[in-house]
Amino acid sequence: MATAADRLGGFPRWVTEEYWMETRRSILTAPAHPSAFRRAARNARELVPRLAEFTGSTATEMHRWLAEVRRRRLAQEIRRRCPTASGMGGPAAEVLYLFARAARPRAIVETGVELGVSSAYFLQALDDNGSGELWSIDLPFVGGGHTNADGRFDAAHVDTTGDVGRAVPDRLRRRWHLSLGDARELLPTLPLSGPWDVFFHDSEHTRAHMLWEFETAWPKIPAGGFLLSDDIPENDAFSTFAASVGRPSFRWLRRGALRRPATA
Ligand SMILES: C[S@@+](CC[C@H](N)C(=O)[O-])C[C@H]1O[C@@H](n2cnc3c(N)ncnc32)[C@H](O)[C@@H]1O
Repeated sequence: MATAADRLGGFPRWVTEEYWMETRRSILTAPAHPSAFRRAARNARELVPRLAEFTGSTATEMHRWLAEVRRRRLAQEIRRRCPTASGMGGPAAEVLYLFARAARPRAIVETGVELGVSSAYFLQALDDNGSGELWSIDLPFVGGGHTNADGRFDAAHVDTTGDVGRAVPDRLRRRWHLSLGDARELLPTLPLSGPWDVFFHDSEHTRAHMLWEFETAWPKIPAGGFLLSDDIPENDAFSTFAASVGRPSFRWLRRGALRRPATA
């Protein structure tokens, strides 16, 4: 007999979890509306084929990679190392993993590590690809969040600087270069001479900083490479940048992706 999971297209659990995670505040104040379930079901059905098309992979490959990362039980490993880790959250981070499997990058560059959930998923993908390195930059906010230059409170923080990336399993660290400091200083001087096959922004979500990171990263991304961003609804930086480079975007929940044209 078909399970609820099958009826949702074989991809529902994490999308549903993600949905609940993302909307937990509104759910607490307003009981679940049927449209919430419809939206989760629609996302589940549509995400894999859309992601496969956007990355130039097949849905079969996507499902195989997804099964692989779930077999690794990385989410459980992260939770054991870091019970308070939320960050991108396991479900949202699975999409990062899929991007990194599809791109087979030699180099991934990310800004914003905190406890290291996104880093762990990228590193797992590199390990499963059998090649590539991750270059991460984080300016830790120790002991509490802060109000950013756009006047928004950013809760991301660590208890000590030693906690940056604590969620990343030791077995994945050999492909990792972690630098602590302001992305404004470290991103342009990253000691990485080759292209940035995948770039992921998840540091300071002010409009000015996001635009600056996108503009800094884009020329480094080779034909067919990806620019990814978390928290795109924070402001119009992502859509403004996408329009300025004339590229269609792939969006999932609070995240967005752009691809350099394959012939650029
Ligand atoms: C949302 S958290 C990153 C979450 C992480 N990607 C994950 O999946 O777990 C944002 C991080 O960016 C850091 N950050 C904020 N401003 C920064 C800047 N200007 N340069 C580098 N890192 C910054 C914060 O201290 C925080 O650790």
